[in-house]
Amino acid sequence: MLTEVKPITRQSLEEADQLLREGQVVAFPTETVYGLGAYAMSEEGISRIYAAKGRPSDNPLIVHVAPGFDLTKIAREIPPRAEELMKRFWPGPMTIIFRKQPVVSDHVTGGLDTVAIRMPSDPSAMKLLSFTGLPIVAPSANTSGRPSPTTAAHVKEDLDGKIPLILDGGECRFGLESTIVDLTEEVPMVLRPGAVTLEMLRKVLPDVVEDPAVAAARSVADHVVPKAPGMKYRHYAPKGHLIVTDEGASDMMRDLQADMKERPEETFGLIISTERIEELTRLGLLPDERVTVLDLGSRNDLSQVAARLFDRLREADEYRLTWFYGEAFERKGMGEAIMNRFLKAAAERRLSGES
Ligand code: TXA
Ligand code: MG
Repeated sequence: MLTEVKPITRQSLEEADQLLREGQVVAFPTETVYGLGAYAMSEEGISRIYAAKGRPSDNPLIVHVAPGFDLTKIAREIPPRAEELMKRFWPGPMTIIFRKQPVVSDHVTGGLDTVAIRMPSDPSAMKLLSFTGLPIVAPSANTSGRPSPTTAAHVKEDLDGKIPLILDGGECRFGLESTIVDLTEEVPMVLRPGAVTLEMLRKVLPDVVEDPAVAAARSVADHVVPKAPGMKYRHYAPKGHLIVTDEGASDMMRDLQADMKERPEETFGLIISTERIEELTRLGLLPDERVTVLDLGSRNDLSQVAARLFDRLREADEYRLTWFYGEAFERKGMGEAIMNRFLKAAAERRLSGES
């Protein structure tokens, strides 16, 4: 199959609409990551999503809707808490879990009695959703297990020849997948951290908590089963051995130099902040011809780090890095979502307070 990449125009939207109605899949940008969309009522489209991604089919999909969409068509009840969250954070990078209407198929929900719904704010995503008027199910448009795509080129890297159309809306603004909030239980719970942070959610829902599995993944007690089925899989993993550490610059470099002696067969690298690159340069430890340096941006601007993270993890593969260190970030605000993804990508972690 020929995979076409097209800018968002009236013509490409018409083409996307037609493909979706025929049970095909179309990749499109959102403010978080690119999604691989199918019409939510199309069994054919949904099975094409799972096939193109190589994704386990027990992993449920998020339904994307345009402003004005009647949620009661797919959600059985809209609790007052949901109204408050939607008022504050929709359209935007937040997904809410509701009890589902029977019409929502088991292939969307992975057999669960609940459905995940999100109203994206990205202008291209909004155009597609309003143009078609259809609810569109979409997981991230990557091959299962790889970092989520934040550009049309990333989607093409993974899905070339497997899908007919990629709508190109440029780079995703946030670069990490949406925050998922479950409102189907007594206590509202964050199942996946994202750009709508716990701090932001608490201002609207003071009793919101984190899924114990998300909290546990921050320590070495990494065995608690998460509530979002997709969070149990190893994700975002580069091919090489990534070590995420909160050591200071010179300690990180000392470890890397020791590894270079012991493992001359490996290809080495660093995924670190601009400040750390500058520090290591001042210390005379960089540049080093044996070390590929991937710049995550300023550690004082975590939204920049978030927007670059998946691209840098993909680059690590392009440079065929087999042994590389990543700099840990403070788990505050956006840092929580960054570390959630970074640690999932890591083969090894060296964090103070953990042994
Ligand atoms: O930002 C995003 O959310 C992107 C863009 C494309 O919208 N989508 C995305 O989809 O990240 P995906 O499929 O890669 O991740 C969806 C996550 C999975 O971890 C899945 O298990 C969880 O949402 N999920 C979906 N429906 C659920 C439900 N009913 N209950 C609990 N978790 C659910
Ligand atoms: Mg995904």
